[in-house]
Amino acid sequence: MKRFDKHIFVCVNFREKENPKGSCGQKGSEEIRSILKKKLKERKLNISVRANASGCLAACENGPAIVVYPEQIWYGRVSVNDLDEIIESHIINGIPVKRLLIAKEN
Ligand code: FES
Repeated sequence: MKRFDKHIFVCVNFREKENPKGSCGQKGSEEIRSILKKKLKERKLNISVRANASGCLAACENGPAIVVYPEQIWYGRVSVNDLDEIIESHIINGIPVKRLLIAKEN
């Protein structure tokens, strides 16, 4: 069985627009995941890094939300325009993108 070095979970949970919690799916997370997968493949990173669709990550107010494991780095309000920076800085060079981090709750 293939084991990946990293998993990038992208919340694709979708709620109806009337729902006050909102959802990452409403904010374009399916497109984010799709483009992230494509970008990883273009750089041949898909061999070691997997972009997984996820259910609600309980970070709805910060959506679109993604989390990178095993290092447990959470990103919020991610857009398609942020993906190259996340890949370059975090996935390739190991430096999380500070401006997108979701602050830890105590
Ligand atoms: S809907 Fe994405 S974190 Fe809850």
